[in-house]
Amino acid sequence: MFEKKLINLIRDIYPNKKDILLHEPIFHNDEIQNLSNCINTGYVSSAGKYLEKFKKKVLQTTNAKYACLTSSGTAALHLSLIASNIEKDDEIITQPFTFVATINSILYTGAKPIFIDIDKDDFGLSPEKLNEFLNNNTFLNKKGLLINKRSKRVIKSVVSCDLLGSSAKQLEIKRICNKFNLIYISDSSEALGVQYKKKHAGLYADIAVLSFNGNKIITTGNGGAIFCNNKKVIQKISDLSSTSKINHKYEFFHKQIGYNYRMSNINASIGYSQIKKLEKIISNKKKINNIYKKFFYENNYEFFEVNKNIKSNFWLNLMMVNSNKRKNSIIETLLKNNIYVRPSWFPICDLQFCKSFERYKIENTYKIYQSLICLPSGIIYE
Ligand SMILES: Cc1ncc(COP(=O)(O)O)c(C=O)c1O
Repeated sequence: MFEKKLINLIRDIYPNKKDILLHEPIFHNDEIQNLSNCINTGYVSSAGKYLEKFKKKVLQTTNAKYACLTSSGTAALHLSLIASNIEKDDEIITQPFTFVATINSILYTGAKPIFIDIDKDDFGLSPEKLNEFLNNNTFLNKKGLLINKRSKRVIKSVVSCDLLGSSAKQLEIKRICNKFNLIYISDSSEALGVQYKKKHAGLYADIAVLSFNGNKIITTGNGGAIFCNNKKVIQKISDLSSTSKINHKYEFFHKQIGYNYRMSNINASIGYSQIKKLEKIISNKKKINNIYKKFFYENNYEFFEVNKNIKSNFWLNLMMVNSNKRKNSIIETLLKNNIYVRPSWFPICDLQFCKSFERYKIENTYKIYQSLICLPSGIIYE
Protein backbone atom coordinates (compact mmCIF):
# COMPACT_ATOMS: atom_id res chain seq x y z
CA MET A 1 0.00 0.00 0.00
CA PHE A 2 1.30 3.43 -1.01
CA GLU A 3 0.60 5.12 2.35
CA LYS A 4 2.64 2.50 4.21
CA LYS A 5 5.60 3.07 1.87
CA LEU A 6 5.30 6.84 2.30
CA ILE A 7 5.22 6.54 6.08
CA ASN A 8 8.34 4.34 5.99
CA LEU A 9 10.12 6.81 3.73
CA ILE A 10 9.34 9.77 6.01
CA ARG A 11 10.38 7.81 9.10
CA ASP A 12 13.66 6.97 7.31
CA ILE A 13 14.29 10.63 6.53
CA TYR A 14 13.53 11.68 10.12
CA PRO A 15 14.64 8.69 12.26
CA ASN A 16 14.17 8.51 16.05
CA LYS A 17 11.26 10.95 16.11
CA LYS A 18 7.87 10.05 17.47
CA ASP A 19 6.18 13.14 16.07
CA ILE A 20 7.37 14.31 12.69
CA LEU A 21 6.40 17.94 12.18
CA LEU A 22 5.94 19.77 8.92
CA HIS A 23 8.83 22.18 9.37
CA GLU A 24 10.71 22.42 12.65
CA PRO A 25 13.18 25.23 13.27
CA ILE A 26 16.68 24.05 14.16
CA PHE A 27 18.92 26.00 16.53
CA HIS A 28 22.54 25.52 17.52
CA ASN A 29 24.83 27.04 20.14
CA ASP A 30 25.40 30.23 18.18
CA GLU A 31 21.73 31.27 18.40
CA ILE A 32 21.89 30.81 22.20
CA GLN A 33 25.21 32.68 22.36
CA ASN A 34 23.88 35.67 20.37
CA LEU A 35 20.65 35.73 22.31
CA SER A 36 22.53 35.75 25.58
CA ASN A 37 24.92 38.48 24.31
CA CYS A 38 21.92 40.52 23.25
CA ILE A 39 20.29 40.27 26.69
CA ASN A 40 23.59 41.16 28.39
CA THR A 41 23.83 44.42 26.40
CA GLY A 42 20.43 45.49 27.72
CA TYR A 43 19.33 46.38 24.18
CA VAL A 44 16.35 44.08 23.89
CA SER A 45 13.87 46.26 22.00
CA SER A 46 14.03 48.37 18.85
CA ALA A 47 17.73 49.35 19.04
CA GLY A 48 20.90 47.29 19.14
CA LYS A 49 23.72 45.90 17.04
CA TYR A 50 21.97 42.70 15.93
CA LEU A 51 19.31 44.69 14.08
CA GLU A 52 22.01 46.27 11.90
CA LYS A 53 23.89 43.00 11.47
CA PHE A 54 20.77 41.06 10.52
CA LYS A 55 19.56 43.77 8.15
CA LYS A 56 22.93 43.74 6.38
CA LYS A 57 22.61 39.99 5.87
CA VAL A 58 19.05 40.36 4.53
CA LEU A 59 20.37 42.92 2.02
CA GLN A 60 23.27 40.68 1.00
CA THR A 61 20.96 37.68 0.54
CA THR A 62 18.28 39.48 -1.47
CA ASN A 63 20.67 41.83 -3.24
CA ALA A 64 18.27 44.69 -2.48
CA LYS A 65 19.53 48.20 -1.74
CA TYR A 66 17.27 48.94 1.23
CA ALA A 67 15.41 47.02 3.91
CA CYS A 68 13.35 47.57 7.04
CA LEU A 69 12.97 44.84 9.68
CA THR A 70 9.51 44.30 11.16
CA SER A 71 7.76 42.38 13.92
CA SER A 72 6.14 39.94 11.44
CA GLY A 73 5.47 39.30 7.78
CA THR A 74 1.90 40.44 8.28
CA ALA A 75 3.13 43.77 9.70
CA ALA A 76 5.50 44.09 6.73
CA LEU A 77 2.61 43.59 4.29
CA HIS A 78 0.43 46.09 6.15
CA LEU A 79 3.21 48.72 6.10
CA SER A 80 3.87 48.14 2.38
CA LEU A 81 0.21 48.84 1.63
CA ILE A 82 0.04 51.95 3.84
CA ALA A 83 3.25 53.29 2.27
CA SER A 84 1.64 52.73 -1.15
CA ASN A 85 -1.19 55.08 -0.09
CA ILE A 86 -3.81 52.34 -0.17
CA GLU A 87 -7.00 53.70 1.32
CA LYS A 88 -10.48 52.59 2.24
CA ASP A 89 -12.46 51.36 -0.80
CA ASP A 90 -9.44 51.16 -3.11
CA GLU A 91 -9.14 47.82 -4.86
CA ILE A 92 -6.14 45.51 -4.75
CA ILE A 93 -5.66 42.61 -7.14
CA THR A 94 -4.38 39.49 -5.43
CA GLN A 95 -4.56 35.70 -5.49
CA PRO A 96 -7.00 33.47 -3.57
CA PHE A 97 -4.38 30.76 -3.13
CA THR A 98 -2.20 32.03 -0.28
CA PHE A 99 -1.92 32.13 3.49
CA VAL A 100 -4.70 34.30 4.91
CA ALA A 101 -2.25 36.96 6.20
CA THR A 102 -1.85 38.29 2.64
CA ILE A 103 -5.56 39.09 2.49
CA ASN A 104 -5.85 40.19 6.13
CA SER A 105 -3.28 42.91 5.53
CA ILE A 106 -5.31 44.20 2.55
CA LEU A 107 -8.49 44.22 4.64
CA TYR A 108 -6.76 46.14 7.49
CA THR A 109 -6.47 49.13 5.12
CA GLY A 110 -10.19 49.07 4.24
CA ALA A 111 -9.33 48.20 0.63
CA LYS A 112 -11.14 45.45 -1.24
CA PRO A 113 -9.37 42.48 -2.80
CA ILE A 114 -10.11 41.33 -6.34
CA PHE A 115 -9.18 37.66 -6.60
CA ILE A 116 -7.50 36.50 -9.82
CA ASP A 117 -6.39 32.91 -10.34
CA ILE A 118 -2.89 31.47 -10.01
CA ASP A 119 -0.81 29.51 -12.51
CA LYS A 120 -0.55 25.80 -11.79
CA ASP A 121 3.17 25.56 -12.58
CA ASP A 122 4.30 28.03 -9.90
CA PHE A 123 1.31 28.99 -7.63
CA GLY A 124 1.87 32.69 -8.44
CA LEU A 125 -0.73 35.16 -9.74
CA SER A 126 -1.34 34.32 -13.40
CA PRO A 127 0.08 37.12 -15.61
CA GLU A 128 -2.12 35.97 -18.48
CA LYS A 129 -5.35 36.22 -16.49
CA LEU A 130 -4.20 39.46 -14.87
CA ASN A 131 -3.59 41.05 -18.27
CA GLU A 132 -6.89 39.75 -19.62
CA PHE A 133 -8.83 41.06 -16.61
CA LEU A 134 -7.22 44.49 -16.81
CA ASN A 135 -7.70 44.80 -20.59
CA ASN A 136 -11.39 43.87 -20.44
CA ASN A 137 -12.53 45.36 -17.17
CA THR A 138 -10.65 48.58 -16.50
CA PHE A 139 -9.74 51.95 -18.02
CA LEU A 140 -7.23 54.65 -17.13
CA ASN A 141 -9.00 57.95 -16.33
CA LYS A 142 -7.68 61.45 -17.09
CA LYS A 143 -5.76 61.52 -13.82
CA GLY A 144 -4.01 58.26 -14.73
CA LEU A 145 -5.98 56.25 -12.17
CA LEU A 146 -7.03 52.75 -13.11
CA ILE A 147 -10.82 52.40 -12.77
CA ASN A 148 -12.70 49.13 -12.42
CA LYS A 149 -15.59 49.43 -14.92
CA ARG A 150 -17.90 47.34 -12.72
CA SER A 151 -17.34 48.78 -9.26
CA LYS A 152 -16.14 52.25 -10.42
CA ARG A 153 -13.45 52.01 -7.76
CA VAL A 154 -9.75 52.76 -8.21
CA ILE A 155 -7.46 49.73 -8.52
CA LYS A 156 -4.14 50.76 -6.98
CA SER A 157 -1.97 47.74 -6.56
CA VAL A 158 -1.22 44.09 -7.28
CA VAL A 159 -0.12 41.75 -4.48
CA SER A 160 1.23 38.47 -5.83
CA CYS A 161 2.81 35.71 -3.75
CA ASP A 162 5.89 33.49 -3.97
CA LEU A 163 4.72 30.32 -2.30
CA LEU A 164 5.98 26.97 -1.05
CA GLY A 165 9.53 27.35 -2.41
CA SER A 166 8.34 28.65 -5.78
CA SER A 167 8.08 32.12 -7.33
CA ALA A 168 5.44 34.00 -9.29
CA LYS A 169 6.28 35.11 -12.86
CA GLN A 170 7.49 38.38 -11.45
CA LEU A 171 9.05 39.98 -14.50
CA GLU A 172 5.85 39.44 -16.50
CA ILE A 173 3.67 40.74 -13.62
CA LYS A 174 5.88 43.82 -13.27
CA ARG A 175 5.50 44.63 -16.99
CA ILE A 176 1.71 44.46 -16.70
CA CYS A 177 1.77 46.63 -13.55
CA ASN A 178 3.84 49.24 -15.41
CA LYS A 179 1.40 49.24 -18.32
CA PHE A 180 -1.61 49.79 -16.05
CA ASN A 181 -0.01 52.14 -13.54
CA LEU A 182 -0.20 49.71 -10.64
CA ILE A 183 2.09 49.36 -7.64
CA TYR A 184 3.49 45.83 -7.47
CA ILE A 185 3.89 44.37 -3.96
CA SER A 186 5.40 40.90 -3.70
CA ASP A 187 4.46 38.75 -0.75
CA SER A 188 7.71 36.78 -0.74
CA SER A 189 7.19 35.73 2.89
CA GLU A 190 8.12 32.12 2.12
CA ALA A 191 10.77 32.85 -0.47
CA LEU A 192 14.04 33.80 1.22
CA GLY A 193 16.71 32.28 -1.04
CA VAL A 194 14.37 31.75 -4.02
CA GLN A 195 15.35 33.20 -7.41
CA TYR A 196 13.26 34.02 -10.45
CA LYS A 197 15.17 34.46 -13.71
CA LYS A 198 18.41 34.81 -11.74
CA LYS A 199 17.19 37.57 -9.39
CA HIS A 200 16.02 37.11 -5.81
CA ALA A 201 12.26 36.69 -5.50
CA GLY A 202 10.63 40.04 -4.82
CA LEU A 203 13.29 42.17 -6.48
CA TYR A 204 11.15 42.70 -9.60
CA ALA A 205 8.40 44.25 -7.46
CA ASP A 206 8.18 47.82 -6.16
CA ILE A 207 8.12 46.48 -2.60
CA ALA A 208 8.73 42.94 -1.32
CA VAL A 209 8.03 41.28 2.00
CA LEU A 210 9.62 38.39 3.95
CA SER A 211 8.49 36.47 7.02
CA PHE A 212 10.77 34.92 9.64
CA ASN A 213 8.02 33.08 11.48
CA GLY A 214 9.02 29.82 13.21
CA ASN A 215 7.93 27.66 10.28
CA LYS A 216 9.92 29.54 7.61
CA ILE A 217 13.27 28.54 6.09
CA ILE A 218 15.01 30.67 8.73
CA THR A 219 13.38 32.18 11.77
CA THR A 220 13.71 35.04 14.21
CA GLY A 221 10.85 33.70 16.33
CA ASN A 222 8.35 36.21 15.05
CA GLY A 223 9.60 38.64 12.45
CA GLY A 224 9.53 40.00 8.95
CA ALA A 225 11.23 42.40 6.57
CA ILE A 226 10.49 44.71 3.67
CA PHE A 227 13.06 45.16 0.93
CA CYS A 228 13.22 47.26 -2.23
CA ASN A 229 15.51 49.49 -4.27
CA ASN A 230 13.68 52.76 -3.58
CA LYS A 231 15.19 54.84 -0.79
CA LYS A 232 12.18 57.15 -0.37
CA VAL A 233 9.79 54.21 -0.04
CA ILE A 234 11.92 52.49 2.59
CA GLN A 235 12.31 55.76 4.53
CA LYS A 236 8.55 56.14 4.58
CA ILE A 237 8.14 52.52 5.67
CA SER A 238 10.80 52.85 8.41
CA ASP A 239 9.01 55.94 9.72
CA LEU A 240 5.65 54.16 9.76
CA SER A 241 7.20 51.10 11.42
CA SER A 242 8.19 53.19 14.45
CA THR A 243 6.27 56.05 16.05
CA SER A 244 7.23 58.54 13.32
CA LYS A 245 9.03 60.64 15.90
CA ILE A 246 10.79 63.78 14.68
CA ASN A 247 14.46 63.97 15.76
CA HIS A 248 14.62 66.22 18.79
CA LYS A 249 16.75 66.21 21.93
CA TYR A 250 13.79 65.65 24.25
CA GLU A 251 10.40 66.57 22.78
CA PHE A 252 7.90 63.95 21.60
CA PHE A 253 6.81 65.35 18.26
CA HIS A 254 5.30 62.83 15.82
CA LYS A 255 4.74 63.45 12.10
CA GLN A 256 1.92 60.99 11.60
CA ILE A 257 0.40 57.82 13.02
CA GLY A 258 3.12 55.23 13.64
CA TYR A 259 2.48 51.51 13.96
CA ASN A 260 5.34 50.22 16.15
CA TYR A 261 5.86 47.25 13.85
CA ARG A 262 9.65 47.15 14.43
CA MET A 263 11.65 44.00 14.96
CA SER A 264 13.35 43.68 18.35
CA ASN A 265 17.09 43.21 18.84
CA ILE A 266 16.28 39.90 20.57
CA ASN A 267 14.58 38.56 17.43
CA ALA A 268 17.38 39.93 15.23
CA SER A 269 20.03 38.17 17.35
CA ILE A 270 18.44 34.81 16.52
CA GLY A 271 17.92 35.74 12.87
CA TYR A 272 21.57 36.81 12.51
CA SER A 273 22.75 33.29 13.42
CA GLN A 274 20.10 31.67 11.27
CA ILE A 275 20.66 33.66 8.09
CA LYS A 276 24.40 32.89 8.14
CA LYS A 277 23.42 29.24 7.67
CA LEU A 278 20.95 29.84 4.84
CA GLU A 279 23.08 28.26 2.09
CA LYS A 280 23.72 25.18 4.22
CA ILE A 281 20.03 24.92 5.06
CA ILE A 282 19.06 25.13 1.37
CA SER A 283 21.54 22.44 0.34
CA ASN A 284 20.33 20.20 3.21
CA LYS A 285 16.75 20.70 2.04
CA LYS A 286 17.72 19.98 -1.56
CA LYS A 287 18.93 16.54 -0.41
CA ILE A 288 15.54 15.86 1.21
CA ASN A 289 13.83 17.05 -1.96
CA ASN A 290 15.90 14.56 -4.01
CA ILE A 291 14.92 11.68 -1.72
CA TYR A 292 11.22 12.52 -2.10
CA LYS A 293 11.56 13.08 -5.85
CA LYS A 294 13.09 9.63 -6.40
CA PHE A 295 10.39 7.98 -4.28
CA PHE A 296 7.47 9.65 -6.08
CA TYR A 297 8.99 8.95 -9.47
CA GLU A 298 9.44 5.26 -8.62
CA ASN A 299 5.89 5.02 -7.28
CA ASN A 300 4.29 6.87 -10.17
CA TYR A 301 2.92 9.72 -8.10
CA GLU A 302 3.09 13.36 -9.02
CA PHE A 303 5.64 15.45 -7.13
CA PHE A 304 5.85 19.23 -7.55
CA GLU A 305 9.00 20.61 -9.13
CA VAL A 306 9.63 24.28 -9.91
CA ASN A 307 9.93 25.31 -13.57
CA LYS A 308 13.25 26.16 -15.20
CA ASN A 309 13.04 29.91 -14.45
CA ILE A 310 13.01 29.33 -10.72
CA LYS A 311 15.75 28.41 -8.27
CA SER A 312 13.89 26.98 -5.28
CA ASN A 313 14.75 27.19 -1.60
CA PHE A 314 13.03 23.78 -1.21
CA TRP A 315 10.99 25.14 1.68
CA LEU A 316 8.23 22.52 1.50
CA ASN A 317 8.01 19.27 -0.47
CA LEU A 318 4.68 18.82 -2.24
CA MET A 319 2.93 15.77 -3.61
CA MET A 320 -0.15 15.88 -5.83
CA VAL A 321 -3.01 13.40 -6.01
CA ASN A 322 -5.99 13.18 -8.34
CA SER A 323 -8.92 13.87 -6.00
CA ASN A 324 -9.88 15.69 -2.84
CA LYS A 325 -11.04 12.41 -1.34
CA ARG A 326 -7.67 10.74 -1.95
CA LYS A 327 -5.90 13.80 -0.55
CA ASN A 328 -7.92 13.70 2.69
CA SER A 329 -7.45 9.97 3.08
CA ILE A 330 -3.64 10.23 2.78
CA ILE A 331 -3.56 13.17 5.18
CA GLU A 332 -5.67 11.32 7.75
CA THR A 333 -3.58 8.14 7.54
CA LEU A 334 -0.34 10.05 8.02
CA LEU A 335 -1.74 12.14 10.88
CA LYS A 336 -2.78 8.93 12.64
CA ASN A 337 0.87 7.90 12.40
CA ASN A 338 2.06 11.17 13.99
CA ILE A 339 3.33 12.56 10.69
CA TYR A 340 2.08 16.12 10.42
CA VAL A 341 1.40 16.60 6.73
CA ARG A 342 -1.12 19.26 5.77
CA PRO A 343 -3.24 20.38 2.81
CA SER A 344 -2.66 23.69 1.11
CA TRP A 345 -4.77 26.69 2.14
CA PHE A 346 -8.52 26.69 1.63
CA PRO A 347 -9.31 29.11 -1.25
CA ILE A 348 -9.50 32.48 0.49
CA CYS A 349 -12.19 33.81 -1.86
CA ASP A 350 -14.57 31.23 -0.33
CA LEU A 351 -13.94 32.17 3.30
CA GLN A 352 -17.03 33.78 4.80
CA PHE A 353 -15.46 37.24 5.12
CA CYS A 354 -14.21 37.25 1.51
CA LYS A 355 -17.11 35.75 -0.40
CA SER A 356 -18.50 39.09 -1.53
CA PHE A 357 -15.31 40.28 -3.27
CA GLU A 358 -14.86 40.17 -7.04
CA ARG A 359 -13.16 37.09 -8.51
CA TYR A 360 -11.85 36.21 -11.94
CA LYS A 361 -11.48 32.72 -13.45
CA ILE A 362 -10.59 30.87 -10.25
CA GLU A 363 -9.94 27.40 -11.66
CA ASN A 364 -6.37 26.45 -10.83
CA THR A 365 -6.79 27.51 -7.21
CA TYR A 366 -9.47 24.84 -6.76
CA LYS A 367 -7.48 22.20 -8.64
CA ILE A 368 -4.39 22.81 -6.54
CA TYR A 369 -6.38 22.90 -3.29
CA GLN A 370 -7.93 19.54 -4.12
CA SER A 371 -4.70 17.81 -5.07
CA LEU A 372 -1.82 19.15 -3.01
CA ILE A 373 -0.30 17.70 0.17
CA CYS A 374 2.60 19.37 1.99
CA LEU A 375 5.12 16.87 3.35
CA PRO A 376 7.50 17.13 6.32
CA SER A 377 10.44 19.18 5.08
CA GLY A 378 12.52 20.40 8.04
CA ILE A 379 16.26 20.02 7.74
CA ILE A 380 17.92 16.85 8.93
CA TYR A 381 20.57 16.98 11.64
CA GLU A 382 24.07 16.18 10.50
C1 LIG B 1 2.45 33.75 2.10
C2 LIG B 1 2.52 34.31 3.48
N1 LIG B 1 2.16 35.60 3.67
C3 LIG B 1 2.24 36.17 4.87
C4 LIG B 1 2.68 35.46 5.97
C5 LIG B 1 2.66 36.15 7.30
O1 LIG B 1 3.86 36.15 7.95
P1 LIG B 1 3.90 36.22 9.55
O2 LIG B 1 3.42 34.91 10.08
O3 LIG B 1 5.35 36.47 9.83
O4 LIG B 1 3.04 37.35 9.96
C6 LIG B 1 3.07 34.12 5.82
C7 LIG B 1 3.59 33.28 6.91
O5 LIG B 1 3.23 33.12 8.00
C8 LIG B 1 2.97 33.52 4.55
O6 LIG B 1 3.30 32.24 4.38
